[in-house]
Amino acid sequence: MDKFSITGPCRVMKGEVSISGSKNAALPILAATLLFDKTVIIENLPRVRDIDTMLNLLKSLGSNIQFLNNKKTVKITKTKKQKQFASYSIVKTMRAGILVLGPLVAKYHKSISSFPGGCVLNGNSGRPINLHLEALKKLGMKYEIKKGYIHAKSNGKLKGDKINFPSISVGASQQLLMSAVLAKGKTLLHNLACEPEIKDLTNFLISAGAKIKWIGKRTCQIIGVNSLKETKYTVMGDRIETGTFCVAATVAKGDLLIKNFDPKLIKTELNLLKKVGAKIKLFKNSIHVKGPERIKSIKNITTKEYPGFPTDLAPQFMVLLCKASGTSSITENIFQGRFLHAMELQRLGGKITIKNRTAKIEGNTNFIAAEVMSSDLRASAALVLAGIVSKGNTIVTRVYHCDRGYENFENKLKKIGVNIKRLK
Ligand code: UD1
Repeated sequence: MDKFSITGPCRVMKGEVSISGSKNAALPILAATLLFDKTVIIENLPRVRDIDTMLNLLKSLGSNIQFLNNKKTVKITKTKKQKQFASYSIVKTMRAGILVLGPLVAKYHKSISSFPGGCVLNGNSGRPINLHLEALKKLGMKYEIKKGYIHAKSNGKLKGDKINFPSISVGASQQLLMSAVLAKGKTLLHNLACEPEIKDLTNFLISAGAKIKWIGKRTCQIIGVNSLKETKYTVMGDRIETGTFCVAATVAKGDLLIKNFDPKLIKTELNLLKKVGAKIKLFKNSIHVKGPERIKSIKNITTKEYPGFPTDLAPQFMVLLCKASGTSSITENIFQGRFLHAMELQRLGGKITIKNRTAKIEGNTNFIAAEVMSSDLRASAALVLAGIVSKGNTIVTRVYHCDRGYENFENKLKKIGVNIKRLK
């Protein structure tokens, strides 16, 4: 299993970082290609493990995948051998595997899909898919669960209906948006997630002729169409990668120009970084971040659905707040099991106590290097950030988590002055 070896602290972090395409936008867009008979071209794909997994899943379902232009562009064409079986062996490592369920039923009226895997972020409650299943049922999908698989079918086309999600879910919103596109008649989806990645999915579908209209902040109206047209679409930049590099510059007193990302999409995060003292300049598609000499603490960062503070950046902010000059706190409202990295940060000297959903972070930490273990994707990025500001040689193990979602992470960090290498 690969590890990262980081020798810190990084004294001069400076330069430019080019942000990759968004993993969390690309995954549902790739799943949505199952709705097409025509060819689809998708540009700006990040080459990370989750994307490879989704492409393998599409291949196993019979899609023809052809890479163009440096493997960041993919041409996906339906073949005659389209299948509807999403195997556990592929889906087990990735939560987004469940996103093929709705498109398969919408297009082929049947599917046998494995329960998904992915980061273990919810303690004992796992990562439920009840919201996906209940909502698909309303559109006419029937299902049975047998031996870890969802056996689903519909009597012909799905049928439009009104769905009011009882709570906000990114995945369930994507699932239903995709499924309703080919359903008969009108679907109204209320209480949708409105993350930028969801807007990217609806923009992609609209580019292919889907009749989707946002008629409120969290409401969409979809009028079913018979088929989708050929399209070419460029995936948006990665919001969480951008946030991670903004935190890196702030915590390491760095000076970074972070390119290929629209700063308007991460206002909440940037405002918090300004509060801790970072100097931030915004441009049309880039962000200049200069870290402060003294990092100020913040009380009560609370994770929330977009446009709130993203749970996927909470671990990285925890590292930052360990270096602040006072006591801070982070309350996690989305995933109960989001604090696994806190134990590892404690091994580097972090003074963090967790009570229920809130982590109290005592600041003024001088991190001392140690061996630490990644428990999930964002935790692994946080541990790398901690390694960057620790004294000595930090070894981050299980970086396969990081490889699921950060493209070229160590090379991007090397380029801005971080002493990091991958140990095989
Ligand atoms: C997506 C992101 C993930 C991010 C999360 C929240 C992808 C591939 N992953 O995950 O990086 O951290 O959004 O922004 O885009 N829930 C249920 N029942 C369901 C579905 C969800 O109870 O059927 C709960 C979850 O356990 C969680 C909350 O709803 O507590 C939010 O989950 P959701 O928004 O669905 O996250 P994902 O789509 O899995």
